[in-house]
Amino acid sequence: MARKLFIGGNWKMNGTKAKIVEMCQVLKGGQYGASTKEADIVIGCPAIYLEHTVKHMPQGMQVAAQNCYKVNSGAFTGEISPAMIADCGVHWVIIGHSERRQVFGETDKLIAEKVGFALDNSLKVIACIGETLQEREAGKTFDVVSQQIQAIAETVKDAARWKDVVIAYEPVWAIGTGKVATKEQAQEVHAKLRKWLVAKVGEQVANATRIVYGGSVTGDNCRDLIRQPDIDGFLVGGASLKPDFIRIINCQSEGSRRSSVSDKQ
Ligand code: PGA
Repeated sequence: MARKLFIGGNWKMNGTKAKIVEMCQVLKGGQYGASTKEADIVIGCPAIYLEHTVKHMPQGMQVAAQNCYKVNSGAFTGEISPAMIADCGVHWVIIGHSERRQVFGETDKLIAEKVGFALDNSLKVIACIGETLQEREAGKTFDVVSQQIQAIAETVKDAARWKDVVIAYEPVWAIGTGKVATKEQAQEVHAKLRKWLVAKVGEQVANATRIVYGGSVTGDNCRDLIRQPDIDGFLVGGASLKPDFIRIINCQSEGSRRSSVSDKQ
């Protein structure tokens, strides 16, 4: 089954109103191949700029929040809810990014609760998982990511809700380090995750669910990665703040393959 290409950007805690207008103009001016027009292109911006980003984002590209809480309102100082995100005209949220896990101590349980609650409130979710370097070196990569996906699957629950979930496999050691996973390393984990979905959720969901890779993706390395059978797109941090993001969006287009050849000459 052909899965729709998913290209996610994650601006993290970067940008100003003026910089966002500038980045949206760069995206607007990009040249996109035919396969790109079919893709989901979704950019995570700081919560305070959600409406501003929606206003300036080119048509056909969508906006995501980078986090949300697990209830819709109440005494939770500093948090934002799925209802507030939707009220700003935003339909996606990134949940469980490794920075939320590592810096802010979010647990598998809390992340899973947030995923379930965001889906309950009609948001689509980019759910992030991934192992640390220490875990990989200890041979525990799949133990870690299967535990993370298991927690998420428990709150997605219903097979029909998986259509609104994109799994982002982002090895922590590859995020922001310039040390991208090799295509073999990424494909190995993606294939195992898909097998896990077949066994625990069902073949149909496994075949339809997008599993995207994140961690030091650039315009130069994206084309090899996207050719792997179980890599359905990317979640891009640093490069999403640069014009290079257009090359990543075009990772499957003929034009960008040609330019990859000329890049190497
Ligand atoms: P990076 O970040 O592309 O800068 O490595 C990826 C991410 O954090 O989603």
